[in-house]
Amino acid sequence: MVSVIAGSSSEDIAKKLAKKIKANLIKTEVKVFPDGENKITLKGKFSKGKIIVVQSIYPPVDSNLFQALSLISKAREYSSEVLVVIPYLGYARQDREFLPGEIVSMKVLGNLFKGVGASKIIVVDIHSKIGLKHFKIKSQNITAILDLVGYFKKLNLKNPLVISPDQGGKQRAKEFANQYKSDFIALKKQRDRKTGKVQIKNDNLEEVRGRDLILVDDMISTGGSIVKATEFLKKQKCKRVFVACTHALLINDAEKKIRKAGVTKIISANTIPGKTSFVDISNTIAKAIK
Ligand code: R5P
Repeated sequence: MVSVIAGSSSEDIAKKLAKKIKANLIKTEVKVFPDGENKITLKGKFSKGKIIVVQSIYPPVDSNLFQALSLISKAREYSSEVLVVIPYLGYARQDREFLPGEIVSMKVLGNLFKGVGASKIIVVDIHSKIGLKHFKIKSQNITAILDLVGYFKKLNLKNPLVISPDQGGKQRAKEFANQYKSDFIALKKQRDRKTGKVQIKNDNLEEVRGRDLILVDDMISTGGSIVKATEFLKKQKCKRVFVACTHALLINDAEKKIRKAGVTKIISANTIPGKTSFVDISNTIAKAIK
């Protein structure tokens, strides 16, 4: 029988996944000592066979990463097949040396996962597939787009338009629009690599006037990209702006800033559990595993 270890950052997905694939669920208990060290205890026994570790790597990123590595390492003592599901993979944006001297953290992560004994890694809507090229074990990127589209279909928006906040997300927005049966546009976003400041460089966009819009992105961190895109789109006299994203990190007051910019609703997947994670992706993960 397959065992699913529910890492502390992905308890809900792991529980749903174990139920769907009829696996033995092993919970974990994490105690954080005053000096910040994690003490991880498994609450359950392994069955013979494959082990699936489910643990997202969102803030506190390094703590959740360490927990993932520890769980994989423990699982490897019991099984030669350890499948690792990382619904949100922190560090994925550090996939190349953008400025001289920068460390490619995805390379480091690849070495760590291999070192502790992972057989294969499944991630959801990774920022860029370049990141997975650094992994020397099998890896697979799956998408939450169909699940997000399913949510939006139920909203019955009239004549909506899908927007990517930047050219890098064009393919994602196109895929969303294809499934959702609408048009799409990709804005021209520019980010200063040193300050992180974001600007939208488009001229006027007649197509958005009077229409409900869905901004599709892989993730929201500080909210800067969504705020700038929304401010621009509101100036173009669009109707409502909705946000569909897989990973809503919503650091500090990002949600407040996004609402202030005029966004009606943020809808994200439960790769990062929170106030906006209306969309469950355990079914999509279960399908990928079978
Ligand atoms: C960037 O290319 C990504 O797709 C996201 O748009 C970006 O990482 C979001 O970050 P923030 O919310 O800080 O603008």
